Amino acid sequence: MEKFVISGGKRLCGEVEISGAKNAAVAIISATILAEGVCRLENIPNVRDVRILMQILDEMGAKVRNINKNTWEIDTSHIKSTVVSNEMTRHLRASYYFLGALLARFKHAKVGMPGGCNFGVRPIDQHIKGFEALGASVTTGNAMVEVKAKEIVGNSVYFDMVSVGATVNVMLAAVKAKGLTVIENAAKEPHIVDLANFLNLMGADVRGAGTDIIKIRGVDRLHGCQYSIIPDQIEAGTYMVAAAATNGDVLIKNVIPKHLDSISAKLIECGAQIEEFDDCIRVSSHGRLNRCHVKTMPHPGFPTDMQPQMAVLLSVAEGTSILSESVWDNRFRYVDQLIRMGALIQVEGKAAIIEGVPQLKGSPIRADDLRAGAAMVIAGLIAQGETTIEDIHHIDRGYEDMIEKLQALGADIKRCEFEPAETKAVSIVG
Ligand code: EPZ
Repeated sequence: MEKFVISGGKRLCGEVEISGAKNAAVAIISATILAEGVCRLENIPNVRDVRILMQILDEMGAKVRNINKNTWEIDTSHIKSTVVSNEMTRHLRASYYFLGALLARFKHAKVGMPGGCNFGVRPIDQHIKGFEALGASVTTGNAMVEVKAKEIVGNSVYFDMVSVGATVNVMLAAVKAKGLTVIENAAKEPHIVDLANFLNLMGADVRGAGTDIIKIRGVDRLHGCQYSIIPDQIEAGTYMVAAAATNGDVLIKNVIPKHLDSISAKLIECGAQIEEFDDCIRVSSHGRLNRCHVKTMPHPGFPTDMQPQMAVLLSVAEGTSILSESVWDNRFRYVDQLIRMGALIQVEGKAAIIEGVPQLKGSPIRADDLRAGAAMVIAGLIAQGETTIEDIHHIDRGYEDMIEKLQALGADIKRCEFEPAETKAVSIVG
């Protein structure tokens, strides 16, 4: 097994290049099922979630070619199977996008229940509601979801809560439907807009992505295209927080600064300096940062996927901060790890009360999930002494070359092999 070993206390300084957005890539890769022809996708992050999706497509009969580290060509013309086994889907949440894409193309899909990070219950009732509104019938059982329809017909779909996954799935299902689909209370995340741009380049008619009403007029055919994925908002935010938390000075390149507004605003509130340029952002800080209160919300609010990283920064800020989680029921599991490092955090329901301490101390900790794992890395970077992080496979799901990027910024971090003390049960979450 592998772990990260970090010797903390180094300021991060220099430049870092942000990779393509994982959560846009996983939607767009699934959307290639809709194309008659080859899709060439550029700026795809080289991360585990992407490799698993490519493997699923390959096993379904698609021609999948890795042109170079971040460019893939996918030809799904020869896909025959509309079934994706639980064995494959349990590794990542985004596997549920095969439901919408296969339904649109074959009017049938049977897909294993999706895995992904463990934040408590992760229902898919809104996805099901959307498919049913378009004329599909949905059955669940034996850890599989099956959707089928004689015909997909456009309709109004109103979501009871803002859901990225349900918005993506209904967009995928509706692009070839008969007539007009109107999604109300749609998610507005940057990756929703990126998916809409990709679908439109393939010949779809999707309007309003980025607002809470998306209108999709069904078309008969979609063709292949060449597309470059947007930069990863959360990877960029993670390096922004790491730069500020280590009192560093980092130019974060290949970003869309607008996507980072909510993160910049909170870092400025804490006393960090932010300079925005066309496609990069510079973050620096000097001395101890101040406390601030943060509440996670759907875009354009503060992203829930930045909540654990921000908790680390606040754990050493001056004063008491309240960090409220309003998207997921249970996203504070990682707090126990920070407490081992000397943080003073109390979780009450969906809020964490963080009393800043002057210093964290290096400790053996683990990555509970993807973003919690990134947060543990930041904790290791600011802590005094050595921190080891186990279960780093979570981090590899979504951060390309994290070790190399941090080393280039001056961090003392390495990946090491180790023999686990005892054999653990295999985790079923990705
Ligand atoms: C996406 O997950 C992201 N994953 C998550 O990022 C992110 O945390 C989340 O959106 C919120 O921004 C991908 O894009 C692959 P949701 P998703 O549907 O789509 C409830 C990461 O670290 N809900 O927007 O699964 C749900 O329980 C990952 O990259 C229902 O009740 O999230 C949650 O409370 C982790 N019924 C809220 O809505 C439904 O049918 C938002 O979930 C669907 C969702």
